[in-house]
Amino acid sequence: MDLYTEADTDRDEFWARQARRLSWASSWSNVLDWSAAPVARWFVGGRLNVAYNCVDRHVEAGLGSRVAIHWEGESGESRAITYAELQREVSRAANGLASLGLVAGDRVAIQLPMIPEAVVAMLACARLGLVHSVVFGGFSPAALRSRIEDAAARVLITADGQFRRGGAVPMKPGADEAVAGTSVEHVVVVRRTGSSVDWSERDLWWHDLVDAQSDTHVPESFDAEHPLFILYTSGTTGRPKGILHTSGGYLTQAAYTHSVVFDLRPESDVYWCTADVGWVTGHSYIVYGPLANGATQVIYEGTPDTPHQGRHFEIIQKYGVTIYYTAPTLIRTFMKWGADIPAAYDLSSLRVLGSVGEPINPEAWLWYSEHIGAGRCPIVDTWWQTETGAMMISPLPGAETKPGSAQRALPGIGASIVDDSGVPVGPGETGYLVLDKPWPSMLRGIWGDPERFRETYWSRFSGFYFAGDGAKYDSDGDIWLLGRVDDVMNVSGHRISTTEVESALVSHPSVAEAAVVGAADETTGQGIVAFVILRGGADGAVEELRNHVAKEIGPIAKPRQVLVVPELPKTRSGKIMRRLLRDVAENRAVGDTTTLADSSVMELIAKGLA
Ligand code: WTA
Repeated sequence: MDLYTEADTDRDEFWARQARRLSWASSWSNVLDWSAAPVARWFVGGRLNVAYNCVDRHVEAGLGSRVAIHWEGESGESRAITYAELQREVSRAANGLASLGLVAGDRVAIQLPMIPEAVVAMLACARLGLVHSVVFGGFSPAALRSRIEDAAARVLITADGQFRRGGAVPMKPGADEAVAGTSVEHVVVVRRTGSSVDWSERDLWWHDLVDAQSDTHVPESFDAEHPLFILYTSGTTGRPKGILHTSGGYLTQAAYTHSVVFDLRPESDVYWCTADVGWVTGHSYIVYGPLANGATQVIYEGTPDTPHQGRHFEIIQKYGVTIYYTAPTLIRTFMKWGADIPAAYDLSSLRVLGSVGEPINPEAWLWYSEHIGAGRCPIVDTWWQTETGAMMISPLPGAETKPGSAQRALPGIGASIVDDSGVPVGPGETGYLVLDKPWPSMLRGIWGDPERFRETYWSRFSGFYFAGDGAKYDSDGDIWLLGRVDDVMNVSGHRISTTEVESALVSHPSVAEAAVVGAADETTGQGIVAFVILRGGADGAVEELRNHVAKEIGPIAKPRQVLVVPELPKTRSGKIMRRLLRDVAENRAVGDTTTLADSSVMELIAKGLA
């Protein structure tokens, strides 16, 4: 019986079997309680410790000398950390955090570069039942601050600075700005760059807090539904949502998918996921999935072109990477750099290639297959979201793959494509992707906002989770993802909301009004194009506006283009017609303007831009 049939025959029993991959302090009474839908309870009454599952149990199984992490610094320094060492480090860090008076359920914000301490800090939180909220290093102090405030974090763990493209970039000044006047009682600072930092009473060096602690720590077990982390992501409104994930179901699906989708062989594979721990991919496929499975992985600190454009291939060759998991935007960048670069390295260790974050166009898929995978590695195109916690739609290696299609829901997962009224569409018709059955790693809510949780995901189609993506079936019934259907942009695989960028723009004194669209971009998937109306007398300081957005949200949200316009196209009810602006941004003839309140606006805009 294959996995699909097994899952279809008895879904609860299927998921129970997947949960038994983990080590439970006490078992559950029933697999799923969906009576309070849309808030699920999985593995009801079961108890476990997530960090114990990711670290200690491998040591107890005699695998203490297996390398958990091959860490590669941007400058070429490296460190191999075995599971036994990881256990000692996590224990010390847990003892350190506990000494600050933190107790299970408290929130800890983490903003760290890709260094081993990031993984250790997350696992130390999990070990103590503390809820981590990791904030991507590229987010601004203002963005970090709003996340700290929303979750009322008691501690921030950060670094003095990080290495980026060969230089040291300070982080501590931003952290100071972010925590001032918030609930944060202590800022724990990892020394990474050695640059001098301002210091106040609430600050503590990580090494002072952690190094002298005992390297043993007895893990307590927590309820399967104990909160594990909050991770903020962009939605259609200006305010990011704190997506809440819990313990047992999340870890079950992270471990299961990491194992079956990559056909993982923990004793021989060297796995590498190129994401940052600041995103959900880093949570599920650097920290929790791979470590729960006892895998050996590479973690790389730097950018793919530092110090040269062959850096990733050099790392694959150096460590004999067998599974490589990355984003289409990087593949398209490699394409631009040229096939002779990967060709100069020995990539023969590679066995499975993965893609995530945005639809992969067939050209990029084929290039990935041929120039990285030498035509012999299956590619798994994995569709999922921060909200889903783990992979949902993906081929399994060994299946016949199709360039550009994520193909089908994984065993145990229910997905379907429906029209406006919730009726499944036929082959070739475009519809909305919905998830029609609860899944173990589903979000349990939006932190502090149960109403928004129902409204955002569960109100559009009764009984179904609305993902926000468009999709279609082909004639074989395979699924093709078509990108977001809401006001969320996807720039280099990063989710950014149009309204968030608009809010940042109008917070600038010279901007009267702003409208933002994601325009097709050859490398980044989408690029941010902003249309702004300036206040009377303000001159067109376009560069200043771009930098202003970077300062407010972070460099990832910096618009590719800011266009100054006299008017914005609006419907009679005052809604901005982004579709028309997208036409302008993508240099197309402007579409139907009949619903505009003033149909001459588009001519005005075109004239102004000409
Ligand atoms: C998009 C990232 C097509 C999609 C794990 C989704 C994809 C959003 C794919 C979630 C894929 C992710 N094919 N589109 N394989 N993977 N997406 O929360 O629009 O950062 O809704 O999670 O990325 O982005 P998020």
